[in-house]
Amino acid sequence: MKVLSILSGGRFLVWSLVFELVLCGVFATNSTERCKLFSKSDSEKKALNRLQPLTNKNFTVETKNGDESYTYVFQVCGDAGGVLGAGVIQEGIKEKGKKVTVIGLYNATQAIGGSDWVMLIYRNGERYDAHCSQEMRKAIVMISCNRKTDMGQLEVVLEDRNREHDCFYLFELDSSAVCPVLESKMSTGSLLLIIAICLLTVYLIGGFLYQRLIVGAKGMEQFPNYAFWAEVGNLTADGCDLVCRSRNREESPAYRQAATEPLEQEPEERDDHLLPM
Ligand SMILES: *[C@@H]1O[C@H](CO)[C@@H](O)[C@H](O)[C@H]1NC(C)=O
Ligand SMILES: *[C@@H]1O[C@H](CO)[C@@H](O)[C@H](O)[C@H]1NC(C)=O
Ligand SMILES: *[C@@H]1O[C@H](CO)[C@@H](O)[C@H](O)[C@H]1NC(C)=O
Repeated sequence: MKVLSILSGGRFLVWSLVFELVLCGVFATNSTERCKLFSKSDSEKKALNRLQPLTNKNFTVETKNGDESYTYVFQVCGDAGGVLGAGVIQEGIKEKGKKVTVIGLYNATQAIGGSDWVMLIYRNGERYDAHCSQEMRKAIVMISCNRKTDMGQLEVVLEDRNREHDCFYLFELDSSAVCPVLESKMSTGSLLLIIAICLLTVYLIGGFLYQRLIVGAKGMEQFPNYAFWAEVGNLTADGCDLVCRSRNREESPAYRQAATEPLEQEPEERDDHLLPM
């Protein structure tokens, strides 16, 4: 009965593990795949994949420019503010009501990754009315490493539209998702220490088993090379005695007399020293 329950328990564990693996496999590559990259280079795919933890979330930020007020909504490879195909939108609040302008589409994505940042560019937004040779709007979102926050606050850096070409909206976002993976802090020293401890353990256990099962030793003799280690221990104790003991046997009798007289310790030894006088 007990064996059966252990077996089924093990099977349950295996299945849940498989299930989790499948789940991770599906969701790890899915959400960012909705972005269509301009050029399907591996480096861009990698950069995009680092943004996976930021998917399926509307990032919003409000700006005030005089009496105009805008709200920007950004999503990583998803419909920002529910607008189909849009990665970044701008919602203008004016007297006439809400006006939504698409700044960039996520089916025209470019992703550039550095060691601790990823730059996401959405192109093919709505055309400018008068500025920038009426080209299509473009959004650049700079996502920088910040280990203190999973998802920071979206911020508008600038809207550069007073030029002929290549106008853009620039946003910033902090996130730990784009931080470089910390290298394990284990130094060679600690690695060597671990190896030494492992070897020592193997030596002790192996030697113990050998002494017990093959040699047939009993008690303390079961320790491997017992005689040798006992000798080492004795020598160490002697050495320590010589170096560390504060009251040295070679101390001058006069000093000893002064120091130990009230206590009258080790009288025989003292007598020995005093005899020749
Ligand atoms: C995720 O992948 C599954 C199959 O791999 C697919 O059916 C589904 O539509 C994908 N979802 C999205 C949002 O891309
Ligand atoms: C983003 O906002 C839109 C509109 O408010 C909403 O329909 C959508 O569900 C939101 N998406 C997420 C992932 O919160
Ligand atoms: C991107 O999507 C828009 C509409 O959502 C469509 O008009 C356009 O052709 C698409 N572009 C690409 C490159 O798929």
